Amino acid sequence: MHLPVMPGEALTLLNVRSAGTYLDATAGLGGHTRLIAERLSTGLVIANDRDPASLEMARRNTEPWSDRIRFVHGPFSRLAEGLRASGVDKVDGLLADLGVSRYQLTAGERGFSFMADGPLDMRMDQTTGTTAADLANHTDEKTLADLIFQLGEERSARRIARAIVRARPIRSTLHLADVVLRAVPRTGRLHPATKTFQALRMAVNDEPGELDRLLEIGPELLASGGRFVVISFMSLDDRKVKERFRELAKSGRATLLTKHPLQPQEEEIAQNPASRSAKLRGLEMN
Ligand SMILES: C[S@@+](CC[C@H](N)C(=O)[O-])C[C@H]1O[C@@H](n2cnc3c(N)ncnc32)[C@H](O)[C@@H]1O
Repeated sequence: MHLPVMPGEALTLLNVRSAGTYLDATAGLGGHTRLIAERLSTGLVIANDRDPASLEMARRNTEPWSDRIRFVHGPFSRLAEGLRASGVDKVDGLLADLGVSRYQLTAGERGFSFMADGPLDMRMDQTTGTTAADLANHTDEKTLADLIFQLGEERSARRIARAIVRARPIRSTLHLADVVLRAVPRTGRLHPATKTFQALRMAVNDEPGELDRLLEIGPELLASGGRFVVISFMSLDDRKVKERFRELAKSGRATLLTKHPLQPQEEEIAQNPASRSAKLRGLEMN
């Protein structure tokens, strides 16, 4: 069963009203979408995701509430168009649960994981864009090293980039994991390829740029009194959310609901270890 992260905290901060209109910008497998839909009577939830395969699963997982859910396919940068197409102008709450889902991470054929063999793809939206194989095989060594260093916060980025360039063509996820493992011996708990995979994934999906656009347009999509709730898993993302939320509060456009980020309770971490690094921040538009 799929467990949405920090469900109680997210729903409380969203302050779901039964006649309200909500936007789940990252529907994924529909975990949070379902929780919002359950609380609606005449209200509506727009369930958006850039991954068509995930949207299909979300649709199946929320079947009993289909009368109050509209599914929209697209990245954050096209959220405004998605809302317009659903006949919605402003929403009373916007939830974003960033990153990839358990399904995306563990399905070998999606190419996100160094635990399962598969094509080196990593596109959340497989209908468009550049794959991780394109990046790994065609980016010059310096650019690749910078990318792994900046997005993966990987200190051995240069050594890894050199090893990747020498091993080209990189054929699959396990091939890449093996190349990194040979270049950087295992020391701690983390698999040496973790940060390299994270960096490629972020670059393939332009995650930093997408988050910037979400934080930029989110406030425009919210009605007065509307809530903006973001769950992030990486410190780079949480820092951006914190800064943008502070800026909105300082300018008087919004009020912070969380001075410090909320984190999952021990009980949730025990039940769902993947929730461990989650940080949740909320804001209300004035
Ligand atoms: C952590 S999962 C969400 C899980 C979901 N809240 C649930 O309970 O099932 C993140 C989802 O966001 C989607 N996503 C990530 N970045 C996106 C973006 N820029 N635009 C649209 N969807 C995005 C991913 O495809 C993934 O399905």
